[in-house]
Amino acid sequence: MAKGEREGRLPLLLLLLLVLCLLAQSRIAAAATHPQDAAALKSLMRKWSNVPASWRKKSNDPCGDKWDGIECNGANLFGMNMKGTLSDDIGSLTELRVLDLSSNKDLGGPLTPAIGKLIQLINLALIGCSFSGSVPSELGNLAQLEFFGLNSNQFTGRIPPSLGKLSKVKWLDLADNKLTGLLPNSRDNGAGLDQLLNAEHFHLNQNSLEGPIPEYMFNSSMHLKHILLDRNNFSGTIPSSIGVIPTLEVLRLNNNNFTGRVPAMNNLTKLHVLMLSNNKLSGPMPNLTDMEGLGNVDLSNNSFTPSGVPSWFTELPGLMTLTMQSVGISGKLPQKLFGLRALQHVNIE
Ligand SMILES: *[C@@H]1O[C@H](CO)[C@@H](O)[C@H](O)[C@H]1NC(C)=O
Ligand SMILES: *[C@@H]1O[C@H](CO)[C@@H](O)[C@H](O)[C@H]1NC(C)=O
Ligand SMILES: *[C@@H]1O[C@H](CO)[C@@H](O)[C@H](O)[C@H]1NC(C)=O
Ligand SMILES: *[C@@H]1O[C@H](CO)[C@@H](O)[C@H](O)[C@H]1NC(C)=O
Ligand SMILES: *[C@@H]1O[C@H](CO)[C@@H](O)[C@H](O)[C@H]1NC(C)=O
Ligand SMILES: *[C@@H]1O[C@H](CO)[C@@H](O)[C@H](O)[C@H]1NC(C)=O
Repeated sequence: MAKGEREGRLPLLLLLLLVLCLLAQSRIAAAATHPQDAAALKSLMRKWSNVPASWRKKSNDPCGDKWDGIECNGANLFGMNMKGTLSDDIGSLTELRVLDLSSNKDLGGPLTPAIGKLIQLINLALIGCSFSGSVPSELGNLAQLEFFGLNSNQFTGRIPPSLGKLSKVKWLDLADNKLTGLLPNSRDNGAGLDQLLNAEHFHLNQNSLEGPIPEYMFNSSMHLKHILLDRNNFSGTIPSSIGVIPTLEVLRLNNNNFTGRVPAMNNLTKLHVLMLSNNKLSGPMPNLTDMEGLGNVDLSNNSFTPSGVPSWFTELPGLMTLTMQSVGISGKLPQKLFGLRALQHVNIE
């Protein structure tokens, strides 16, 4: 059965083709899809299972006579239960702006490098499908891309350094795959994630990424709001350059192998979530004084120098959850802690 479905190789490509055709048409006039494109789509369609019913109708013009999921500027085939793989044909949809094939869990196989030809793409969402193999380095050619969502697939191998060329990207999400290796950076790899100065979201959690993260991976020119690196195998110290990203709101580094002292983060006044649990961090427990935006903090299961109750416990007005299992705190919790208005959950053992 799996084999039979694999033969339906083109569904996504067809959809994309439709979209591209539509885009091209809409620029010239509001009229018909190029007959050639429509024919290509129709032929792709024949090989797919579960194409939307509207595609089977007589019209040869997906743009003029609306086909489900296809619009004049994008292919949105979210959750359509599409099965099969994406063929190289998708590369001919060069006018496509939006390609969203998310939540088609039977859509998968290797991701064709031909996607790198869709150079007008602004939004690429292949979330929650079954794509496997490596992330094609050709995706670095998508210079207009602002949203890059390949999370929750089965991708393996390294993050291609070429993704550092996606200079407009705001949302980079590769979470929940099987990626390995180091984070690419421009000094060691020619290009890398440190170049994504417009990015607000780095979601790389739940992979098998590893190795130390160099200081120059982050700097104050960045606009990151979310750095999610949790549940990987990162080691070495937490780069102190994370502490100079003024926009940072959520930092999740838990469940890795980070060692050494936690760098100063007191300038991160917008930081709301700080998760450092289940690492091998040592030295004094971080001093979170003046980090007034903090709502959720978890420092559990590290090797900090045993200490008394830190004064900042009672000085964070927005604190909602505080989790501190096995962090070596001794002494009585100040009554004032329980007077914090926002506090909902405290777990200190
Ligand atoms: C931050 O890093 C990027 C890329 O490595 C670089 O272009 C930029 O000049 C750096 N900014 C600062 C303030 O160091
Ligand atoms: C994590 O990396 C270390 C080497 O740094 C390696 O020995 C270990 O097997 C890795 N663990 C996992 C779960 O990948
Ligand atoms: C941390 O490293 C040790 C050995 O270096 C390894 O056994 C362990 O799996 C690693 N932890 C994680 C979360 O990968
Ligand atoms: C925090 O910001 C102040 C003022 O801008 C600066 O002097 C200091 O060096 C910064 N600290 C860190 C750790 O970046
Ligand atoms: C934590 O930092 C604050 C402000 O910089 C400082 O006043 C305080 O003494 C520090 N606490 C410890 C335990 O180092
Ligand atoms: C701390 O480690 C223990 C033992 O591995 C684990 O059961 C517990 O869930 C961890 N606590 C947190 C908050 O992650």
